[in-house]
Amino acid sequence: MQNVKNVFLVEGGQALKGEIKLAGAKNAATKILVASLLTDEECILENFPRIGDTEIALEICRNLGSQIKIEGNTVYIQTPKILSTKITNLGRRNRIPILVLGVLLSRVREGEVPLLGGDKIGPRPVDMHIEALKTLGAQITIQENSYLAFVPNGLHGGEITLKYPSVGATEQTIMASVLASGKTVLRNAAVEPEIIDLIKVLQKMGAIIELGTNRVITIYGVEKLRGFKHQIISDRNEAVSFASLAIATNGKIFVKDANQEHLITFLNSLRRIGGEYEVEKDGIWFWRARKLTGVKIETDTHPGFMTDWQQPFVVLLTQAHGVSVIHETVYEDRFGYTKELNKMGADIKVVSECLGSLACRFKDKGFLHSAIIDGPTHLYGTEINVPDLRAGIAHLIATLVAEGKSVINGIEEIDRGYEKIDERLKALGAKIQRSTL
Ligand code: EPU
Repeated sequence: MQNVKNVFLVEGGQALKGEIKLAGAKNAATKILVASLLTDEECILENFPRIGDTEIALEICRNLGSQIKIEGNTVYIQTPKILSTKITNLGRRNRIPILVLGVLLSRVREGEVPLLGGDKIGPRPVDMHIEALKTLGAQITIQENSYLAFVPNGLHGGEITLKYPSVGATEQTIMASVLASGKTVLRNAAVEPEIIDLIKVLQKMGAIIELGTNRVITIYGVEKLRGFKHQIISDRNEAVSFASLAIATNGKIFVKDANQEHLITFLNSLRRIGGEYEVEKDGIWFWRARKLTGVKIETDTHPGFMTDWQQPFVVLLTQAHGVSVIHETVYEDRFGYTKELNKMGADIKVVSECLGSLACRFKDKGFLHSAIIDGPTHLYGTEINVPDLRAGIAHLIATLVAEGKSVINGIEEIDRGYEKIDERLKALGAKIQRSTL
């Protein structure tokens, strides 16, 4: 039997217009689901995105003993008892299992999670997660395919300074310490909006978490946590994708539920290149104000220009006059997707020099982590292979800008993070068909 491939068939060249509503943030929803494991009471998650990554997170929770009911975009989850402390084979495709480790230690004092896969965006180590859990008292050994952890006397507070403000390691430390005995001080923490959303949920559950200045978060352990009801924040990565799409196709799109507070750096970058926006009470309009021009950008932790925004923005920059430069400082290997864009007619070079002024962990290490985009270039439809989620949305936007027809392979990567993307784009006038070949 031949392998069946799910693909998007796209015909580009239309200016996309209309309204698109954001889904709940993937990177908040999955963590909040994990947080629900910290209590035996019922938790209600509203605005929960129904995408590949959240399905994996739900499956992980089910396997651990959660009872789950889903109605539309509302998830009811209750975990009266942890029935298994081991996550087996669901781990290679996302970063959720490692976050479950701290929660399992907190609730039942042991856990085993698989070694990680994640996106094809570099090695993505978890050393900071492991170090943080050890500081909180865990004993962790690396098995052939898993991390095995115990904490015979329960987790206790500690002092942790992250060597880099990692989103995952910050979430790990916070979730592992809310029920630990004593006080935990976390320095050099990440403060992304999705982390703040998680902190709000933990507060609703009864935790005591202080957000200090200079990336210091202090957690005072409590005895017990209760259930919660929470509306997950809108997905700022979707917002950036659709804003880039509006301007790249020279259309006009209202991104419903886009939140200005989460997009400040992006909005500044957009205006600098000639994009325009109007903030309304319930969303933001995006369109092109003038001839687009190139820009220099460096990705960074929040509140900087997010690493997940550079891919759709690079597509936009292929339509801008002059040279643009992107210095990626969060991941060492996140420009692989530009090969396919060049195949479509873009002029993008990737180099190993740090083309920017931010302190960068990848300096002189030979990683291709700066991109030079010369534009504008006319893009042409072609057949594309999607390597990972954000690359996938960049490719999809490029095919919608391009003249002619494209076939996009590997669309399950896009489905991991964007709910019913084909249907939602059709409503904007996109010619896109989900098909099997
Ligand atoms: N890092 C380490 N050691 C660690 C943890 C991270 O060296 O123990 C490094 C990573 O390799 C990377 C940097 O630190 O170079 C930042 O990683 P971070 O831990 O901040 O990222 P993450 O928690 O793994 C989340 C999002 C990513 C997003 C990044 C940065 C989730 C599930 N993933 O990843 O989103 O790019 O933060 O904001 O929340 C996506 O949604 O497609 C995605 C990749």
